[in-house]
Amino acid sequence: MQCCKGQAYDQIFDARTAARELRAYERRGPRGATARLLQAIRAGLGPREAFTHLDIGGGVGVLQHELASAGASQITAVDASGPYLALLEGTARRLGYADRQVRIEGDFVRVAGEVGEATVVTLDKVICCYPDMPQLVEAAARKATGMLAVTVPRDAAWTRWLVALLNGAIRYLLRQDFRVFVHPHAAIDAVAAHNGLTLSHALPGLFWVVRVYTRPAASR
Ligand SMILES: C[S@@+](CC[C@H](N)C(=O)[O-])C[C@H]1O[C@@H](n2cnc3c(N)ncnc32)[C@H](O)[C@@H]1O
Repeated sequence: MQCCKGQAYDQIFDARTAARELRAYERRGPRGATARLLQAIRAGLGPREAFTHLDIGGGVGVLQHELASAGASQITAVDASGPYLALLEGTARRLGYADRQVRIEGDFVRVAGEVGEATVVTLDKVICCYPDMPQLVEAAARKATGMLAVTVPRDAAWTRWLVALLNGAIRYLLRQDFRVFVHPHAAIDAVAAHNGLTLSHALPGLFWVVRVYTRPAASR
């Protein structure tokens, strides 16, 4: 599928990669930046009784599975990759929450009109796949009634160099139309702020940075 501003998601995020990532999650649970993101979400939710989750570009659904077991009353998965999305239903059934799951295939910017609001909206390693960061972050922020939690590459010269090398390899070795982007954090913060969300946590890792934006209670 050629979609999403020229990004060939189905080729990069294919069935083999999806199956490998799901096996890794089933063996070892959430890891790395996803584990840190999850920790920040749990801390932000506190002892809330009910919450819903919208996972944009959730891949094999690690955040969805974990937040389902933490009590999310509804989980919506929107992914531009057909093969990734296809794995979600079976996994949710095995984990016993298929009745609380909704799956939508497509570029979130294009399908956002079909998607409802959620307490927690996540973009875990997704903004870096999308050329038009303001459109994606704005569409996601508008759906977040409680928080928008994201992981993005560090905003640094060395990550841009590394990503430029990676993009060269994708283009010339893999011959794929896919690029990775390091969008400036200040620009992401500005889009979130324009949509009523304030940066509440920034947890740097070696490459991935977790950033959580919160909607003030009075404006919910
Ligand atoms: C690098 S993977 C990350 C998967 C998962 N969140 C994780 O951290 O393991 C990026 C995912 O985002 C999806 N994606 C990227 N841009 C998207 C968009 N605009 N709308 C929906 N899904 C998108 C891709 O299809 C892919 O599943």
